Amino acid sequence: MNYPVKHLKMKNLPMAKVTHDLQLIENRQLNPAYHLLIFKSSVAIPEVFPGQFAELLTPDSAATFLRRPFSIYNADYQLNTIQFIVKIVGNGTKKLCQLSTGAIVNIIYPLGKGFSISEGKSLIVGGGVGIAPMYLLSKWLTTNNREFDILLGGRTEADIINVKEFSEYGELDITTENGKLGQKGLITTHPWLKDPGSVYSRIYTCGPEAMMRAVARIAIASQISCEVSLENTMACGFGVCLCCVVATDKGNLCVCTDGPVFNINNLKGWD
Ligand SMILES: Cc1cc2nc3c(=O)[nH]c(=O)nc-3n(C[C@H](O)[C@H](O)[C@H](O)COP(=O)(O)OP(=O)(O)OC[C@H]3O[C@@H](n4cnc5c(N)ncnc54)[C@H](O)[C@@H]3O)c2cc1C
Ligand code: FES
Repeated sequence: MNYPVKHLKMKNLPMAKVTHDLQLIENRQLNPAYHLLIFKSSVAIPEVFPGQFAELLTPDSAATFLRRPFSIYNADYQLNTIQFIVKIVGNGTKKLCQLSTGAIVNIIYPLGKGFSISEGKSLIVGGGVGIAPMYLLSKWLTTNNREFDILLGGRTEADIINVKEFSEYGELDITTENGKLGQKGLITTHPWLKDPGSVYSRIYTCGPEAMMRAVARIAIASQISCEVSLENTMACGFGVCLCCVVATDKGNLCVCTDGPVFNINNLKGWD
């Protein structure tokens, strides 16, 4: 699906969120921990920006009555489908990954503010399930003729998913801590992050907070811009419960409405 150039100008305008009952049309197990869930809407899906997320209601579960937030992995406006990569970490994610095709899930989306477009060449750094918002970002940058490279990292090879899909959009490299796939070591030791300022003008990153903080420090040292997608624990997902606040130069802001994507220059304690 092509994203129109108007998206470049529309970044961060408030967008109507919808609450829809969507039908699960595919539940593809990628490996023991990760699933790709594809939902179909009976009506036109709203426009979605890379970095935005959705709140999914786990069906029939008193233990997980709060919705669970997931980055939007992909959206297809012709088929009216929306996709998520879900890593099983607890009850809610387990229940979602156990759903059979045909199941109906109530979903609120699109939520939050996504990534902004970069001017020069950029580097995408996705760690573990932080890979999820990076696919839509890769498509969006490609559609808007931006140059970028993609670096995916994980503890083991099981954390590196959908490599073929990603590599269709940019030059891609991989790190794993156990060395079974790609370069061995932490993602931050990859050569592309040695002196990123000499090649890139922007880093986009999502993953474990410690990884994003390390990437942010590299970006600061290289004097390049860096956007992080925070995954603070959330409940409501639209600015009511205040459980997701983060300290910024504008005071405490909700990650769910003012983020999840922030420029590190605006985050307190990220330098
Ligand atoms: C904006 C946003 C986007 C996200 N995108 C994705 C995504 O695309 N794919 C995906 O698999 N997950 C994503 N997550 C994380 C996902 O929401 C949690 O893994 C999920 O809510 C856990 O639900 P659960 O019932 O399975 O686990 P719970 O039983 O609630 O918790 C199990 C364990 O997971 C930890 N946990 C719960 N929530 C989070 C969280 N937000 N971050 C880190 N650890 C958490 C808990 O501390 C606990 O240790 C995202 C979170 C946010 C805030
Ligand atoms: S999750 Fe409720 S305010 Fe952000």
